Amino acid sequence: MLELSGVTKTFHAGTPNAMCALAELSLRVAEGSWVVAIGGNGSGKSTLQNAIAGTVAVDAGRIVLAGQEITRWPEQRRAALIGRVFQDPYRGTAPGMTVAENLALAARRGERRGLGWALGWRVRRELRERVARLGVGLEDRLDEEIGTLSGGERQALTLLMATWRRPQLLLLDEHTAALDPRRADQVIRLTREVVTRERLTTLMVTHSMAQAAVLGDRLIMLHRGRVLYDVGGAEKARLRPEDLLERFEAIRREEQLDASVAEMLRGQYV
Ligand SMILES: Nc1ncnc2c1ncn2[C@@H]1O[C@H](COP(=O)(O)OP(=O)(O)O)[C@@H](O)[C@H]1O
Ligand SMILES: [Mg+2]
Repeated sequence: MLELSGVTKTFHAGTPNAMCALAELSLRVAEGSWVVAIGGNGSGKSTLQNAIAGTVAVDAGRIVLAGQEITRWPEQRRAALIGRVFQDPYRGTAPGMTVAENLALAARRGERRGLGWALGWRVRRELRERVARLGVGLEDRLDEEIGTLSGGERQALTLLMATWRRPQLLLLDEHTAALDPRRADQVIRLTREVVTRERLTTLMVTHSMAQAAVLGDRLIMLHRGRVLYDVGGAEKARLRPEDLLERFEAIRREEQLDASVAEMLRGQYV
């Protein structure tokens, strides 16, 4: 289980550029639940994931994962519990290393042993089997450099690496946004397979209303660093992409209203 309470993060605090990216955000994700998060640009989706993973240190609040308070743990330590896939296919893998070497790194995540043992025949056989299961033909390219892979192949591989050892939490941040529709579908199919098979507790950010409507068992919408909308169960199952677009539209109208009220108020004082 993942639990955030009162998590707050302001960038450039105390300057004119202060930006409150997370505003006392609280969220409880049940073991094995797949939460899909949507929200406009800058609503705090990536900061939420960065706060959980320890890439960003929070100003206040508590983060508990699998029964341990991890709020002050360094990112490295949290990485033993958390798997991540980012939008950028280049972020998840080590350049200049082969497919097999990258996988070996993922396989020993959280261990102190060196790389030497990792490519023995027994490990290679396991790598081959698990890569073959992806169904994208990478099993015959284990010794190729990561640089030769397409974006979609890299994301498939990154997903495999992030879940190689069953993580307590899988964080996906728009991990198909940089792919063409066919590749995106393929990576979504793989995501579904692994999340379902391993019953992974998952927090997935997406820009795609179609994905948000169809995937996961719960949907949250972030707005200005808060959870504005939270729906699960049968109501989530009924959601259509149009419903989500409508909600976005309603928020946008409200913002414009806010802006015009602010304008009026300013007007009174000049
Ligand atoms: N490292 C950072 N330094 C300064 N500002 C940041 C940083 N990361 C995010 N922000 C700001 O925080 C807000 C939320 O950003 P982010 O979480 O990336 O939004 P989203 O992923 O929903 O588009 C934005 O205004 C963004 O500019
Ligand atoms: Mg983002």
